[in-house]
Amino acid sequence: MNNKKIIDKVKEFVKQEMLKGDSGHDWSHVLRVNNTAKKIAKKENANLFIVELSALFHDIADSKFTNGDETIAPKKVKEFLGSLKVDAEIIDKVNYIVNHISFKKEQPVEKSIELKVVQDADRLDAMGAIGVARAFSYGGYKNRLMYDPKEKPNLNQTKEQYVKAEGTTINHFYEKLLLLKDLMNTKEGKKLAEKRHKFLEKYLVQFFKEWEGKS
Ligand code: ADP
Ligand code: NI
Repeated sequence: MNNKKIIDKVKEFVKQEMLKGDSGHDWSHVLRVNNTAKKIAKKENANLFIVELSALFHDIADSKFTNGDETIAPKKVKEFLGSLKVDAEIIDKVNYIVNHISFKKEQPVEKSIELKVVQDADRLDAMGAIGVARAFSYGGYKNRLMYDPKEKPNLNQTKEQYVKAEGTTINHFYEKLLLLKDLMNTKEGKKLAEKRHKFLEKYLVQFFKEWEGKS
């Protein structure tokens, strides 16, 4: 089976798998990440096949929706790609990326260029107008308050605290979204992040104005 056919099969499979979860973690998120990742990959000379497979699989069986079980995703990747006779070496590279992409995980010392690309693309989707929409969508799914002036953001969270955090969605902007710009791996990722970061800042200014009845 050629690579294009494999990608099409993976798309079909992941689309079905993504029917679970909230609307910020749906198939359209995966498609956006895939498109952004391909764009960045071309500038960074990354392996497009590995980038695309990893982008498509990156949120499969997200541990937030599997009671923290992190063994499900690599099993699914291995089973599905194995059934399409994809090389074991490529499957390992894809699983390495799927396992290390998340903000909440410890970062590996050495990142492959393909991991850098897909991680940037995933992070970009948590920024800008889409990032705002996804944050409130997630907050609603988790029944969180949008904002509480009494609750200050926790900027020095440990990874455990971050995962367990039940704070307001506005605090999430300070605890994660506004930090992403400086975590970009690639030159192209940084460039795209600047614009989306500025939008987040502008959004917050207007949010607080409206909250305080000043706009
Ligand atoms: P990662 O896979 O890097 O840990 P997540 O899956 O936590 O990222 O984030 C997916 C989306 O859900 C992002 O748009 C993120 O901003 C949003 N999100 C995650 N946690 C929260 C939260 N506590 N409040 C609001 N939005 C959140
Ligand atoms: Ni994602």
